[in-house]
Amino acid sequence: MRIERYDADRGALLPLFALADDSATQVARYVSLGEILVARDGELIVGHAQIVESGRPGEFELKSLAVLGPRQGAGLGRELVEAVVARCRERGGQRLIVSTAAAAVGTLRFYQRQGFRMYLIVQDAFGPSTGYPDGRLIDGVPLRDQVFLELDLESG
Ligand SMILES: CC(C)(COP(=O)(O)OP(=O)(O)OC[C@H]1O[C@@H](n2cnc3c(N)ncnc32)[C@H](O)[C@@H]1OP(=O)(O)O)[C@@H](O)C(=O)NCCC(=O)NCCS
Repeated sequence: MRIERYDADRGALLPLFALADDSATQVARYVSLGEILVARDGELIVGHAQIVESGRPGEFELKSLAVLGPRQGAGLGRELVEAVVARCRERGGQRLIVSTAAAAVGTLRFYQRQGFRMYLIVQDAFGPSTGYPDGRLIDGVPLRDQVFLELDLESG
């Protein structure tokens, strides 16, 4: 397994982007931004991470992250986040942010296990007006609110 920068056609990564975000409308808005790291097993891309500049000095956002279903739970997601952290530090970043659904409790655990701290909740970020299906449940919890988490890149 190796993690490396990806500079080829991002269309090939759309299934991974779709795993990370249910809204094709939203994905279309940001898919071409920033830089992408991929995890490769031979020629097969098994995961991706997209790093974008947030627009605030010293701050990057982990905009999209996914590992193929059959490869989840084997430490690859963690390795991708570690590679993102290293890359952001290399670029002089001081803070890395990420957001996910409040309903995605497993994902919230995943990020907190890696040192991310919650700092903001945006109510009703996910719904028909932003391209998400009405009534979607994650583990029985309505997909509705968005949680932002941060990682201080200058500590640790
Ligand atoms: C979230 C995701 C990237 C995690 O990647 P992964 O390779 O499965 O995760 P890892 O195997 O590296 O797991 C690292 C740790 O997080 C935990 N974890 C990962 N996914 C979890 C989940 N859904 N629920 C609970 N814990 C989870 C693992 O148990 C492991 O815990 P440990 O440190 O106690 O051993 C992957 O599950 C995925 O692609 N999900 C679908 C897309 C998605 O939700 N993307 C994030 C949107 S913001």
